[in-house]
Amino acid sequence: MTEVILKLNLLNKKFKDLRNHHINFIPTMGNLHFGHESLIRKAIAKKGISVVSIFINPLQFTENKDFKRYPKSLNADLGLLKRLGVDYIFLPDASFLKSDIYTTNVSVGNITNLLCGKDRPSHFDGVATIIVKFLNILQPQSIFLGEKDFQQILIIKKLIKDLNYSTKVITHKIVREKNGLAYSSRNSIVSSSNREKVIEIYQSLKLIQTEIKKNKFINSKINFHKKKLIKVGFEKINYLEIRKEKDLSILGKEPAQCRIFVSAVIDGVRLIDNMKLGKLIYKKNFYLSTS
Ligand code: PAF
Repeated sequence: MTEVILKLNLLNKKFKDLRNHHINFIPTMGNLHFGHESLIRKAIAKKGISVVSIFINPLQFTENKDFKRYPKSLNADLGLLKRLGVDYIFLPDASFLKSDIYTTNVSVGNITNLLCGKDRPSHFDGVATIIVKFLNILQPQSIFLGEKDFQQILIIKKLIKDLNYSTKVITHKIVREKNGLAYSSRNSIVSSSNREKVIEIYQSLKLIQTEIKKNKFINSKINFHKKKLIKVGFEKINYLEIRKEKDLSILGKEPAQCRIFVSAVIDGVRLIDNMKLGKLIYKKNFYLSTS
């Protein structure tokens, strides 16, 4: 039976008795979709106790408007989690973290300033801070994270290493709709007239991946894809960049596993995606596949 826990003191009491169990933790901000479902199924299949948190973390929003309109579907979320057979749902109320009186900040440094951190300066500090809070409270053996938020995974791995947590990070591939669109809570706030256009993000990534495999991808084509997305109807391309998987640094002559990362805005909604490119080198303005 799934148990919903609303108060931190009740959670602490409960988890005192569960300390010798293996805790599999899946942090979420709710409005659960197939991507979450797939991640949660993976966690449930592991031995131990599954705990899903639903908390829209105010610290990771750089704009109040974005925080206020973040999609919510609590009843459907609770129904899904119960059907899936999650053991505990931690659903803290706003008193868990009152952003006006809460002042402690966890900052992971360099990697938080790239890609999504560039135009959302305090975003990843907000993520790191809430994750540290959850790790301290739950002391999970494993934390489950989806690869759509690839930068977030690297940041959480780094803080776990730097702050000596023993939690293992278990990642899960991006789950996509039939047309390639990555499932995201934010997809539901894109207007119906723009839904079709959103697929172009995936199509650009796929095309870049294919051209790289054929060793035909020259750097200047990045701009072509950015312009194409704008032409289709995106308001802004925050970034479209090839980076090393290990630390998101820029590729040079040394071969490294890479991904292409994108963030684009439509209807004022910020969407992200990424795709594996394999082991590459960068030579004479070309991204070349070495595998
Ligand atoms: O990926 C998310 O939904 C959030 O960033 C997380 C990890 C739940 C922290 O608030």
